[in-house]
Amino acid sequence: MKGASPLIAKKGAGPFVVRAPAKLNLFLRVLGRRPDGYHELETVFERIDLSDELTFEPAAQLSLSCDEASLSCGEENLILKAARALQQETRTAHGARIRLVKRVPIAAGLGGGSSDAAAALQGLNRLWQLGLDQARLSALGARLGSDVPFFLQPDAFALGRGRGEVLEPVDAAQELSHVLVVPDARLSTREMYEGLARAREQGIGLTATSPSSTMLLHALRNGSLGELAAGIWNDLGPEAIRRCPSISLIEHELRELECLGAQVSGSGPSMFGLCRDSAHAQQVAAQLRTRIAATPWRISVVHTDGV
Ligand code: C5P
Repeated sequence: MKGASPLIAKKGAGPFVVRAPAKLNLFLRVLGRRPDGYHELETVFERIDLSDELTFEPAAQLSLSCDEASLSCGEENLILKAARALQQETRTAHGARIRLVKRVPIAAGLGGGSSDAAAALQGLNRLWQLGLDQARLSALGARLGSDVPFFLQPDAFALGRGRGEVLEPVDAAQELSHVLVVPDARLSTREMYEGLARAREQGIGLTATSPSSTMLLHALRNGSLGELAAGIWNDLGPEAIRRCPSISLIEHELRELECLGAQVSGSGPSMFGLCRDSAHAQQVAAQLRTRIAATPWRISVVHTDGV
C-alpha cells in the first residue's frame, strides 16, 4: 500500500511544502533491553492522515519558525538536528528558511517529531539538490530517532524490528478508520520505557501468553477487521495508563461506543479506537464529543494515509 497522495507538493521553483504525517502503532511489543540502552521492539506502524506541514525556501542561513508557541525552534528541535546532520553528512553549508505548521499533538505517541525530522531530510535533500537515496536518508534518520526511518519509506503499513528502524513493508487489503483521542498530557518516551523496565523487574506486566504480530499482520493482509481488532496490542499501554489515568476512561468510552478495538499508540497518551469504516468513526467521534464535552481531550477521525 504505497502513498497515493504526494508527501512533497510540487509548486514550481519557489517555496515548496512537505507533509509530515503521524503514525499509530497497531502493535508494539517490547522484547527486552539492549546493550545500547534502547529496547528491542516488534511493532506494526500505520501512517495516518493527520499531518504537520513544512515549507522550505532557499536562504543564506538555516532558520526554523513554527505556529505552535510551546515548541522550541532552537537547535534541539529535530528539524534543525536533521538539517545539521545532513549538512555534516554531505559537507555542505547551505541555508534554508523552514516554516512548520504543527497539527500533530506533541509528545503524544504519534511520531510527530520524528515525522518532522523525516520531512526535513526529504525537503532539504530536494532544496539542496543532494541526491541522497532513501537508504542514506534512513541511516541518517535512525540517528535522530527510532521512528524516523518509517516516515522515510513509502508504505503506509510496516513491521518494525530492532529499535523500530528495521522495516518490512506490509501490504494491507484496505484503509483503516479510527477515532483518535489525545488527552491533555505529554509523556516522555524515555520515561515510559524506563517505567516498563522497572515494572518488569518487579514482575508486573509480564504476560503469560506472549502476543505475536502474526495474527494482526495476517488480518491486515486479508482485510479481516475482527481479527485485526483482536491482534491490537501495546506493552507500553499499562505504563501510559499509570501515568495518565484518563486513558482508561477513554478506552472504556471507545469500547462502549462499539469500537472494534482500542489501544494506546506508541508511548502514549494518545489512544485510538478501530472503527468499522469512516462513517462509523464519524459517528463514534460525534457521540464521544457529547459524552465527554467537559474534558480537554482532542477527538478526531483519522484514516490510513496514502491508500
Ligand atoms: O529513538 P527515540 O529518540 O525516539 O527514543 C527516545 C527514547 O525512548 C530513547 O532515548 C530511549 O530511552 C527510548 N527508546 C527505547 N527503545 C526504543 C525506542 C526508544 O528504549 N526502541
